[in-house]
Amino acid sequence: MSESPGRTCPLSYRYAPGAFAGPPALRAETLWIAGGLYGNRYALQALIEACDAEPGDKALVFNGDFHWFDAEPGEFELIDETVQGFHALRGNVETEIAVPADGAGCGCAYPEWVGDATVEHSNAIIERLRAAARASGRDLGKLAALPMHLVAEVGGERIGIVHGDAESLAGWSFSQEVLATPAGVADAQRQLDRAGVRVFASSHTCLPVLKEFAGARALINNGAAGMPNFRGERYGIATRISTRPARNPLYGTRLGGVHVEAMALAYDAAAWDRRFLELWPAGTDAHRSYLGRMRDGPAFDGADVRFPRPARSSVHVRKRRHSSPN
Ligand SMILES: [Fe+2]
Repeated sequence: MSESPGRTCPLSYRYAPGAFAGPPALRAETLWIAGGLYGNRYALQALIEACDAEPGDKALVFNGDFHWFDAEPGEFELIDETVQGFHALRGNVETEIAVPADGAGCGCAYPEWVGDATVEHSNAIIERLRAAARASGRDLGKLAALPMHLVAEVGGERIGIVHGDAESLAGWSFSQEVLATPAGVADAQRQLDRAGVRVFASSHTCLPVLKEFAGARALINNGAAGMPNFRGERYGIATRISTRPARNPLYGTRLGGVHVEAMALAYDAAAWDRRFLELWPAGTDAHRSYLGRMRDGPAFDGADVRFPRPARSSVHVRKRRHSSPN
């Protein structure tokens, strides 16, 4: 892998195989997990409303990259203060804001299939975000002190929560691209075996995944909570793990005593479009890199989200209606 900024994975991002041993940090009947909020205040609002509507004992965990587009002091403060009122892990974005590693750039550890222009834009975005974070007056030491992983217990099942994968804060082992290969599947199976968890919930790679493994185990990657995940759609996705099934999951499965589901975060896309353009007008790095995805979704068909698809499965991604932002 290249050593250029945005391509590297700093050693400090790695954690030991025993990271998922020990007692759970939290227990709940229903757990919501949201990675990749990317500073979208409207997705944050939708997420909190969805959690508030849950009955019973519940918890909300932000598994990293809750900052990104909020590169303005007041916006950063709003996101940071709200998120840190819940459980939070740091992603590569928070780590590179609070404890930047030499030459890591955005800390994304982008693999070779991500183009150089995207990497350069991301490195520029993190520079502006760092300046906004410093000007916000928020205690960045608290951000730096957030954990990189945690174990939660839902319905007696151990759930490993990470930003990247089971070995690194910015690992890509739980990505669509790696899991499309036999070697990638074998490696993910090994990571599950070693961690001794029923489910891994991840984010970071920006595309959603639900992949089941032998022994009634799975990994679920929510893609992005604060950006569209499917072609032509404008909602984010959060992961829900609960002893009770959700009423309207996009897709999901049941493993042991828990339901593992992807939930749409139908945020106010028109309001976010306006706010995004205020923060990142034409000519800026985020405008160049992300406006297309924000409006039209990625070049990714939701039918591929869960693989391999069982031959007689009726699994499909539920289409949602959404309003146009313009
Ligand atoms: Fe990330």
